[in-house]
Amino acid sequence: MSTKTEELISAPPARIEPVRILVADDQADIREALRLLLKAEGYSTEIVSNPGAALEAVQTNEFDIMLMDLNYQRDTTSGREGMDLLARIQAADSKLPVVVMTAWGSVELAVEAMRRGARDFIQKPWDNPRLLSIIRTQVDLYRTLRRAERLEAENSLLRAQNRPIFIAESKAMQPLLTLISRIGPSSANVLISGEHGTGKEVVAQTLHAISPRAGRPMITVNTGGLPEGTFESELFGHVKGAFTDARTDRVGRFELADRGTLFLDEIANVPLKQQAKLLRVLETGEMERVGSSKTGRVDVRVISATNADLKVESAEGRFRSDLLFRLNTVELHIPPLRERREDIPLLAAHFVKQYAQRYRKPVRGFEPGALEKMLDHPWPGNVRELDHAVERSVLISTSELIQPADLGLETDKATSARIEDMSLEEVEYLLIKKALARHSGNISHAAEALGLSRSALYRRMQKYGL
Ligand SMILES: Nc1ncnc2c1ncn2[C@@H]1O[C@H](COP(=O)(O)OP(=O)(O)OP(=O)(O)O)[C@@H](O)[C@H]1O
Ligand SMILES: [Mg+2]
Repeated sequence: MSTKTEELISAPPARIEPVRILVADDQADIREALRLLLKAEGYSTEIVSNPGAALEAVQTNEFDIMLMDLNYQRDTTSGREGMDLLARIQAADSKLPVVVMTAWGSVELAVEAMRRGARDFIQKPWDNPRLLSIIRTQVDLYRTLRRAERLEAENSLLRAQNRPIFIAESKAMQPLLTLISRIGPSSANVLISGEHGTGKEVVAQTLHAISPRAGRPMITVNTGGLPEGTFESELFGHVKGAFTDARTDRVGRFELADRGTLFLDEIANVPLKQQAKLLRVLETGEMERVGSSKTGRVDVRVISATNADLKVESAEGRFRSDLLFRLNTVELHIPPLRERREDIPLLAAHFVKQYAQRYRKPVRGFEPGALEKMLDHPWPGNVRELDHAVERSVLISTSELIQPADLGLETDKATSARIEDMSLEEVEYLLIKKALARHSGNISHAAEALGLSRSALYRRMQKYGL
């Protein structure tokens, strides 16, 4: 974790943020009365007239409190629609304080709502000072809770021994850092997208390290790399005798990750049939080991990563949209290295230090020309490519400062060489590099252009350190 990120996580709020209130009521006059009252108090409000819009608002914006009518048009007295909305709001944001509004004389309903997690209630027509005092109390409590949580996140950040190093000082990375510090401590499922080698796994580790689950393991599964037929048993485990090779019971990754984090890497490569199985455990928290009828429960935060565009995969029928909806409660996109060149010198310096130590070489930095060369390079393999280029240079360097030629970034050299003079491997390396550059590092597209499967290309990229 870079110092910048630590600052970000521990930094006190720069200014007092305006209190944001969500109001849901289907009666226009009530909405208008609340709008005027709350505006006069200096609150920022979003006012909606039906449960669907309320849910959408909570999913897309942050609020300090919600005022919710319990009776909506479809069924005006039982309050069932309101109770249902309350449950949905809590599922979307379990901490948001909800104050319910009920008709005069329906205390029973209000009590029921409070049993189900509403923080307070007010009867209509309400008394303005009382309503405002409820709002102030609940918002205070909520903000104190949030501050405590931030402190806890910060502490666990300091405690984390093996916290990953995450360098991100560039402007392009700032929105990502803000999001990481905000959602890291929660249990929200996160989908991380970004090109090959941009640092998706590092981000997953960072999220885990600053979460209250940091004391428990983060279990990684390369879902794309699981041989067919082993998917279920890997993820959910099996019991002895479930199939021919099942000689003993086996604990699956979901169970191993219980109360911790499960990192599902290369999620786009999960076949449709298996997507259905993943969906179920994500929806219910329930699963059975293969061959067992006993249903177990797990409490797992799922972080997944992909370098495909899952919206496209889903639109084209290769990825279930309901599964996508479960995975991407929050979406983090990591920009490619070429869009954050300011980070190149910092990353390079970090890798030099690391490899000089590991290989016991007296290398301490770069010649200006080498730095320039790195700043100009398109880095289709992103941070991983930079990492490998620096490692190679440290190994072959004969001076304290890495020379431009040590970097081996001379694609032009290879291009100008006659194909007849190149080895098969050199040609393959060159073609792969070109395809990746042409497709901006998008593996699926590059693989298609090369006539390779994604995994075949992936293996070759690893072989060549791309
Ligand atoms: N911001 C960063 N700071 C420090 N090191 C980084 C950063 N981003 C990536 N790295 C390093 O670069 C390498 C690649 O990162 P990582 O494995 O997280 O990428 P990825 O996006 O998961 O790649 P892939 O798509 O191939 O799975 C790792 O060695 C990682 O430690
Ligand atoms: Mg990865």
